[in-house]
Amino acid sequence: MDVHRLIAVSNREPYEHHREHGQLVCKRTDGGLTSALDPVLRRNGGTWIAWGSGPADREAVGADMSLEVPPESPTYRLRRVWLSQDEVQDGYRGYANQVLWPLCHITLDRITYLKAYWPAYRSVNLCFADAVLKELQRTPGPVWIHDFHLALLPALVKAAQPADPVFVFWHIPWPGPEVWHILPERREILRGLLAADRLIFQTHGHAEAFLQCAHDFLGAVVPATRDQVLYDGHDTRVIAHPISVDFQMFSEHARSEAVDRAKMDLRQRFGLRPGVRVGLGVDRLDYTKGLLKRLWALDTFFSQYSEYRGKFTFLQIAIPTRSELDAYQQYRDLIRETVEEINQRHVAQYAPATIESASWNPIELHEGRIGFDELVALYRMADLALVSSVYDGMNLVAKEYVSAQVGETGVLLISQMAGAAEELSGAIVINPYETERVAEAIKNALEMPRDERRRRMLRMRSYLSAHDVHAWVDRCLDETLTGTHR
Ligand code: G6P
Repeated sequence: MDVHRLIAVSNREPYEHHREHGQLVCKRTDGGLTSALDPVLRRNGGTWIAWGSGPADREAVGADMSLEVPPESPTYRLRRVWLSQDEVQDGYRGYANQVLWPLCHITLDRITYLKAYWPAYRSVNLCFADAVLKELQRTPGPVWIHDFHLALLPALVKAAQPADPVFVFWHIPWPGPEVWHILPERREILRGLLAADRLIFQTHGHAEAFLQCAHDFLGAVVPATRDQVLYDGHDTRVIAHPISVDFQMFSEHARSEAVDRAKMDLRQRFGLRPGVRVGLGVDRLDYTKGLLKRLWALDTFFSQYSEYRGKFTFLQIAIPTRSELDAYQQYRDLIRETVEEINQRHVAQYAPATIESASWNPIELHEGRIGFDELVALYRMADLALVSSVYDGMNLVAKEYVSAQVGETGVLLISQMAGAAEELSGAIVINPYETERVAEAIKNALEMPRDERRRRMLRMRSYLSAHDVHAWVDRCLDETLTGTHR
């Protein structure tokens, strides 16, 4: 497979353009998908087709709707697709984010289903198909479609170009038939995906659930090897390959002077006195990340182990996301209120010996994006990182934390519901629903002997250095692949 001619397709683009004080400014976007794929295209070149979501995106492209990125040293093409307001409102915000997202994360009460959503979702997929087909005419190459926004795209591309290889990577969980049963369009979604030549999931569990759905809802044939689906005269390989991060890039950057400087600045900014231990959460402000449960666990931790008052602070970086949706606004408000309430209560109960040590907050909530130097500095300085997703396809923050932990002193606590928990064997696996146990796990992490922390971190670092995002691409696109290999 010629990876240099790859045509990657996703809804979210890696770079958006904005106008600030009359200047055209290019900004990176958020989320695991773009942060994982950008280093891949940076290294290999190719084309990335995505929705032009930035307010000044049209000003930055040429006549062929594309531009070279990354802005500082271009190595690949970004081709933008334009969506109408209805397509964004009903297709992306509606069907993708208010139906498929909560459905796949089994947060079924969050589903809002309106009739207008499905035609708009189809229409989004048709727009992308048009762009992919034009791109194939220009420079043919393997098409690699990403995530739940584009489930119909494989069939649309294959209908026009049956001979071109089409791969799909599904970044989020794929639940079982009992969940998909809720969705009126489950068969259309399955048919759309089954036109692909290869369908890749994060875990074996998700791949297996997909096979079950294909069998139950379409009567598709799933051979005993359980690594392919035969449907409508077409054979789709179904495999599991967990996505990863650019381990080397994080490790190298973690050793840079810029990160050393950022570490000092951050301690100052968050008012962390010397000796105060640090816990870290970095998440989009999404209800699947289990942020409320995390706060409850921290609350229990500070009550149960009150000796840590004044000695431990949890930094929560909350990156705004999908903020046009009510569910996300309400969640954000709830997180803000809960942090405030927890902080007030524990600060009031804390009796510091000196005025100086009084300036302590149990939880520091930082809402907003942070720069790369700061992110890596936070990963380096955190004594522990806590991932408490209620369901998560992978969770790349966990892998980024390990990659940046060059000092090998930190401890990773990860939810059993995050795909990464299956691979990162040196982590402490938690159940986000067990509040008291999570509190206990935080204490254990803080009191874990240096040797054990090091041993655990080394094990994960050595695993990730061999299973980085580049190895993931090679394995996903490997032509000789036949089974559900890892
Ligand atoms: C998750 C999804 C990605 C998505 C990202 C950010 O990681 O799997 O497909 O891009 O969230 O969400 P957004 O709606 O801003 O693209």
